[in-house]
Amino acid sequence: WPFHAPYVKAINDIKKTRNAVILAHNYQTPEIYHCVSDYIGDSLQLAKLAAKSDAEVIVQGGVYFMAETSKILNPEKTVLIPDAEAGCSLAASITAADIRALRRKYPGVPVVAYVNTSAEVKAEVDICCTSSNAVKVVESLGVDRVIMVPDRFLAQNVAAQTKVKIIAWNGACEVHELFTADEILGFKADHPGLKVIAHPECPREVVEVSDFSGSTAAMIDYVRTKKPARVLLVTECSMADNIAAETTGTQFVRPCNFCPHMKRITLPKILDALLDIREEVLVDPAVAARARQSVQRMIDLG
Ligand code: 13P
Ligand code: SF4
Repeated sequence: WPFHAPYVKAINDIKKTRNAVILAHNYQTPEIYHCVSDYIGDSLQLAKLAAKSDAEVIVQGGVYFMAETSKILNPEKTVLIPDAEAGCSLAASITAADIRALRRKYPGVPVVAYVNTSAEVKAEVDICCTSSNAVKVVESLGVDRVIMVPDRFLAQNVAAQTKVKIIAWNGACEVHELFTADEILGFKADHPGLKVIAHPECPREVVEVSDFSGSTAAMIDYVRTKKPARVLLVTECSMADNIAAETTGTQFVRPCNFCPHMKRITLPKILDALLDIREEVLVDPAVAARARQSVQRMIDLG
């Protein structure tokens, strides 16, 4: 990536002078993921890393709700998002007022929020979850019915793995909702021996025709440990690029879908963020304190 080299050098230099770390989600482009990040991971791993970081500045290579989570867990730090418009269709699908209305409709039923939500929503719920611990979180509540927001597909995929009844919201990830079971079956027919691994934000029927489903980190682990000859990652495009760069002997069958929000984060914007210390992510301290309880309760489950 010769075009990227000057940015990579400049970012890695300025990181030291700013005492900054870059936390990159698994969907960041390879030049971010492999060349400038200090830590990589799925949503849960990044949240845990943010909580214990002792750097002065945290640059979030990811979307806004991830940066908010970092700020919630480590409020003394300066948290930067290189593009404040990097949103998420799930986070945009529900508000704090919606949670309050759900509580009125289902009194006494605990509310689990996917971390792909705003700080205000996290502040209203009982506990958060990520794609890697959703079943465990739901079952930890010890009740027979929970409200799970905002991803209806994650809710369906969790419901298939537990006896707890799930009341879902109607949100969806604009990237994963595009995959169809017919498309996956077509790839399986065209590529004998193909292993299909799907993110649980995919529709239930897509997960049903897949060989494995898990968080982005679990999907990467599957490829690293099982070393399939041919694999289709039913998720955001950069995941396959990132693992392909470190894997030999596995053929990655495409396509995949891009997340336009994740793709807003680029090397030039990361450099600008570190040069100008912007966009700083701020969360109202009262909201952050309540949201922290929901996120911490999830982290404490282990
Ligand atoms: P993970 O927690 O599995 O990394 O998922 C985050 C996300 O936004 C997937 O679309
Ligand atoms: Fe949100 Fe989907 Fe993009 Fe993940 S891939 S950040 S869930 S829109």
